[in-house]
Amino acid sequence: MSVAASPATIVSIDECVAEAVREGLASRPKRLPAWLFYDAAGSRLFDEITELPEYYLTRTERGILASRAKEIVSLAADGARLSIAELGAGSAEKTRLLLKAAVERQGTVVYEPVDVSASALDGARKRIQREIPGVTVAPRVMDYTRGDGHKFRLERNGQQGRRLVLYIGSSIGNFEPSAAMQLLRRVRTGLTTGDSFLLGVDLVKDKATLQNAYDDAAGVTAAFNRNLLVRLNSELDADFDIETFLHCAVWNSKKSRMEMHLASQSAQRVRLEALNLTVDFARGETIHTENSYKYRPGQAEEMMAEAGFAPAATWTDERGWFAVCLGRAR
Ligand code: TRP
Repeated sequence: MSVAASPATIVSIDECVAEAVREGLASRPKRLPAWLFYDAAGSRLFDEITELPEYYLTRTERGILASRAKEIVSLAADGARLSIAELGAGSAEKTRLLLKAAVERQGTVVYEPVDVSASALDGARKRIQREIPGVTVAPRVMDYTRGDGHKFRLERNGQQGRRLVLYIGSSIGNFEPSAAMQLLRRVRTGLTTGDSFLLGVDLVKDKATLQNAYDDAAGVTAAFNRNLLVRLNSELDADFDIETFLHCAVWNSKKSRMEMHLASQSAQRVRLEALNLTVDFARGETIHTENSYKYRPGQAEEMMAEAGFAPAATWTDERGWFAVCLGRAR
């Protein structure tokens, strides 16, 4: 829709963004939803994060998948033909390892990436079909995080054999524990007995390693966090003074999570013209932007079991920093 922002300008705004920002900035403490991170600039910055020396997550999980791909595919297939679906596929960079192993095993494989971003899916489809012959990509644009039943469905499309659903990259850690359980249950509902689910989770480790992973020396993560405000400035005609909001990454040991905040370094007033909204910040007041829960060993397996998946195998790196768990639908 269009809103008359001032007599001279008409700004076209996304109602979902508007609603989320209105609600988040009216909350105490203030917060903004994490999905706002991933506009084009944010997605690019996140890709950069995954290559930072401090951000061990992507590298560690990739190492596990690289050495275990064959075993994972063979366990999941269980003697039958396998198709692979992936939640939050994004650019599907680590998934190639599993797709290659599946093609080696059975000649061809159907791959169904699910993501909210149609453009990310389209890019992934083109690249994968070009680079891994034998993979048929059937993308689905879907918000798997919203639980209204019919929106989240993994249709069988008349395919034979077993399915493997991937949820890697530790994205499960960005959900509150109860929402994470809901998501696992929803995945189980979309599957048939004998199908499998592969979940990647980041594990609890020393505080310094965790904090550095979310507050790198080059400042990429800070730029990623602040990009939220850049986005509000351009999309909602706001006047956030970006540099006065400090990126904070803190380990909350009681809740076993990394928390990301943006802290106002002075008392200030911000105007969001397109929302006709004025927001005051006290000095030191924060906007809570993201949580990343870290699991203890065995916790993912317990949650999967509770959702109806019998634990089949768990693989970790030699430091025990990250776990990849396979469960079979009971
Ligand atoms: N899923 C990522 C994670 O929890 C997202 C992420 C990485 C992130 N770095 C961040 C989110 C910094 C907010 C701020 O590891």
